[in-house]
Order: sequence, then structure tokens, then C-alpha cells
Amino acid sequence: MNTNQTSSPAVGIDDIAFATGANRIDLAELAGRFGVEPAKYYVGLGQSEMSVPAADEDIVTMAAAAAAPIIERHGSDRLRTVLFATESGIDQSKSAGVYMHRLLGLPQAVRVVELKQACYSATAALQFAAALVARNPEETVLVIASDIARYELHSNAEPTQGAGAVAMLVAADPAILELETATGVYTQDVMDFWRPNHSATAIVDGKLSISAYQDAIEGAWADYRSRGGADFSEVDHFCYHQPFTKMAIKAHRHLAKSLGSERTQEELDAQIEPTTGYNRRIGNSYTASVYLALLALLDGDDDLTGRRIAFLSYGSGAVAECFSGIVRPGYRSALRSDANRAQLDARTVVDDARYLQLLEDAASADVHDSDRPRETGAPFRFAGVAGDRRQYEPTSA
Ligand code: CAA
Repeated sequence: MNTNQTSSPAVGIDDIAFATGANRIDLAELAGRFGVEPAKYYVGLGQSEMSVPAADEDIVTMAAAAAAPIIERHGSDRLRTVLFATESGIDQSKSAGVYMHRLLGLPQAVRVVELKQACYSATAALQFAAALVARNPEETVLVIASDIARYELHSNAEPTQGAGAVAMLVAADPAILELETATGVYTQDVMDFWRPNHSATAIVDGKLSISAYQDAIEGAWADYRSRGGADFSEVDHFCYHQPFTKMAIKAHRHLAKSLGSERTQEELDAQIEPTTGYNRRIGNSYTASVYLALLALLDGDDDLTGRRIAFLSYGSGAVAECFSGIVRPGYRSALRSDANRAQLDARTVVDDARYLQLLEDAASADVHDSDRPRETGAPFRFAGVAGDRRQYEPTSA
């Protein structure tokens, strides 16, 4: 037995940043084409806008843009692992993270791998990262969640598209959030949402996906509690996966009811509201969405020091995980709140015609060799495809 063993260091999120597409469309534009009241989307789904990538953006460029300020702040000397979570991968073999590795100039003594399980895989990546850091507290892990949500045009799911990437640095003695060790997990084989290899857009059974989500969250919560997780009443804030923000409100009400919570509907809704600000304007960013909920909460006015946040991560198909963390003292000095809000406002407003054109161009860019027009103002761009090789470069090149 090792008598020199010390207690494990705190492990968690040391830095977090996001990036999204260069354009945004107001959902009133889609309401016009669908012949419904904008309130169906603004109120019924809790969504006001969707991010739409420029012709020379994709999951790699968004991921690199999200991670760049983290690498700039912390360097990469301690970085040993990049875990790239996505369900809108650009290649069946090569990890999107390897392209990003070059764009960011990361050291060669770093392992890079891609993870997939619908919108859940970034949570698996975060847990794997925490285990690696607990094993060697000198190392850091970069977790990336990057996705572009695409459904069939003119389907009911079309207004729940979006695009975004979140990058998180996982480290010992983290500046922002210490992860608690209890986690709850749940898996059930269900066909609520999937994307076969031949399809660029997801197939979804919308109503089934909502009940599958709620069942999975309930199962993950029960497992979390059985493994020493906090009681519902001991949690200050809840970050849910948000395919549309109303989904988080529905799921939270459902979970509270299943647990017999005495909190009123108004109290429950107020617990979710501070987590919805970014997703409401970005749309579904799949793997990134639960962490955009965290960023919106952290960037809000409340001082969260010492508060417990529970995370309810869901990926169709389906896997869910519930875990929690405690906000660290001084966390605000590690945030980029003004820049985050400015990034959302800086997007170019597009109308329905331009949005449809961008989607059509993106679909053909993935199957044919082509040069992509220079559009993005982000630091990195997808220059095109040549001989089936995707080309990425700094935008300044
Ligand atoms: N004013 C206010 N509210 C209105 C309204 C109006 N004028 N008109 C309609 N509404 C409300 C409806 O009452 C409904 O609210 P409730 O569910 O609270 O009753 C809401 O707007 C949506 O209306 P519909 O149910 O009629 O909407 P729809 O059938 O057109 O599509 C959807 C909704 C099923 C979510 C569809 O957008 C979809 O399939 N989206 C993709 C799947 C998805 O996001 N599923 C979520 C769980 S799965 C998951 O989380 C993984 C993932 O990322 C995909």
C-alpha cells in the first residue's frame, strides 16, 4: 500500500469558450414560409434565431475558433489529449480534431480522437478528460463539442437547426467549475433521431424524441442519486441539453414532478431561464448545447460562487448522463462574457432566401471538389475540397 497517497485534487473546467456560425436568421422568416405565427417558435419552442455557418465554415473552423483563445491563454505545454465530440462529423475515418490540431499549432505529443453518440458525446469526453487529469494532475485535456444541426428542409424539425462549438480545458485545481465525482448514466436503444451514412440530414421522430429524452433524464437522475449524487433540493441550477430551450423547461418540470418536488412551476422555470440565453439565439448545437447552457448561466448577473450546478446531458438513440459541479471562487475572472455576447450580435442577419442558398451550397461542398468563397470573419476557414482532401487555413492566409 502506498502510504504517501494524498487526497485527489479538484478536477474540472479551467476555461471555456465558444464559437458559432457567421450568420443568423430570425425564426420569423421561417414562420413566414411555414405559414405559422412566429410565436410558435418564439414561445412554443423558446427559440428566436438560428446560427447559419458561412460557406467557408464547418465544425472544424468553429472548433478551432472556440479553442484558440484557450490555447492563447494557457499555452499547450501541459496539453496531452484532445477529445473532439461531434455528431456531424466531416469524415468517416479521420478525426475532425486532427485538422484543428494543425490549425492551432498544437504539439505532436498530443493524442487526438473523435467521439460520437448524438448530442451526448461531449459529456462522455468531459468525464474521460476528468479521469485522465485525476490520474495525472500535471496534464490538461482539451474537450471540444462542435456541431451543425441539419434536418430536412420544410420539415417540422427545420426550425430547430443551428450551429456552434464549445471548447473546455479540463485541469486540476480548475478556475471555473469543480466536477463532483458522482455521475448517473442511462442507455436505451430507441429510434428517436439518427443519421444514416447516406444522409446529410438527421431523421427524427419528433414526438418520440421528446418522451425518450424525458425518460432518459429520469433514468440518469435515479442512477446519479443512487451513487451519492445530491438531492434535487440541494441543486441551485440545472443545465439541460437544449435542442430548443422549451425542451429544457419541459424536462425540468417532468423531472421535478417525477421526484415529487414541491417547487412551483414558476420556481422551476426560473431555475432554467438563466441557462437559455445563448441557445435561444444559436439554435440546436447538438453536443455543444448543454455547455452553451452552462456558459449562458456563468455569463449571467448572479454571483454563482459555491453554487451547485447539475447537468442533464441527452443524446438521442439514446444515452443520458447526470452529473454535478461546484462553481469555484473567482470564476468570473476566467470568463469572456462581453466577448461572448458580442459574438452573437456580430453575426450577419440573413433572410430566408440567403439561408436556403447557404444550405444548398454547404450540401454540395461536401460531395464535390470546390473552392469555398471567402466569407467568414472567424480566424480559420474551410477553403474547399481538392481531390477529396478538405483544405483548412487561417483566414489571414
Ligand atoms: N403560440 C405559442 N405556442 C405555439 C403556437 C403559437 N402560435 N403554435 C404552436 N405552439 C406550441 C405548441 O403548443 C407546442 O408547445 P407544447 O409542446 O408545449 O405543447 C410547440 O409550440 C411546438 O408545436 P408542435 O408540437 O405543433 O411543433 P411541431 O410538431 O411542428 O414540431 C418538434 C416540434 C417535434 C420539436 C420538431 O421541431 C422536431 O422534431 N424537432 C427536432 C427533434 C427535437 O429537437 N427533439 C427534442 C428531443 S431529442 C434531442 O434533444 C436530441 C436532439 O438534439 C435532436
